Amino acid sequence: MSKPLVWAHRGASGYAPENTLPAFQRAADLGADGVELDVQLTKDGEIVVCHDEQIDRTASAKGWIKDYTLEELKKMDFCCGQMAYEGVQIPTMQEVFDLLKPTGLTINIELKTGEIFYPGLERRIVELTRENGWMDRVIFSSFNHYSIMEIQKLAPEAKTGFLYADGTLDMPEYGRDHHVNALHPALYNLQYPDYMKKCREFGLDVNVWTVNRDEWLKMCCDFGVHAIITNYPDKARKIIDG
Ligand code: G3P
Ligand code: MG
Repeated sequence: MSKPLVWAHRGASGYAPENTLPAFQRAADLGADGVELDVQLTKDGEIVVCHDEQIDRTASAKGWIKDYTLEELKKMDFCCGQMAYEGVQIPTMQEVFDLLKPTGLTINIELKTGEIFYPGLERRIVELTRENGWMDRVIFSSFNHYSIMEIQKLAPEAKTGFLYADGTLDMPEYGRDHHVNALHPALYNLQYPDYMKKCREFGLDVNVWTVNRDEWLKMCCDFGVHAIITNYPDKARKIIDG
């Protein structure tokens, strides 16, 4: 059984403001294998990295990302109350590609198409990923499985994963039938009977979120997941490497 990969959730968000360039740099510095991030579309159609559809929680202003231009968003402070990072900006997806290019890290791009169905987000993220030559270093995921099916249509070569919090379906069978590469379950779903066995049988990677406590990190190692999505990549690395 190979060791799980470590993907830093919203970057190393346990140490730096989530979904910012310092959080992604920190992830690389702490030995992560990849980062997970969330994408949204601005009023002028730019792809930016932010978890919430509204900026109220993470920025110095209020409102919906879809109602601001990139220029307007760039003037705001996204330090999330962490004064050591005062003035940090919302990153574009392009800036994250540029930052991580030399590192060899992979990126799990989560499409936030839950509350807002951004027109053309799937096409734009595929185009940008291709333009940057990143297709083999990215996996696309979403709680909105229609978004993932759209990515599959636009880019048959793309790696894809279904995010979910509670599977009432047989999720390994569902993933297999929809030709994704991976399932991205919340931690407790691992305990479904035969879950890991079925995923292995169907060739599905299991990338589990969001695992921060030592005992849960150990549990993921025992289950033999493909990747652990965590706010503390250094902690995960230590447990995985013993
Ligand atoms: O992609 C894993 C995890 O990020 C999903 O939940 O809400 O943190 O985007 P959330
Ligand atoms: Mg996410």
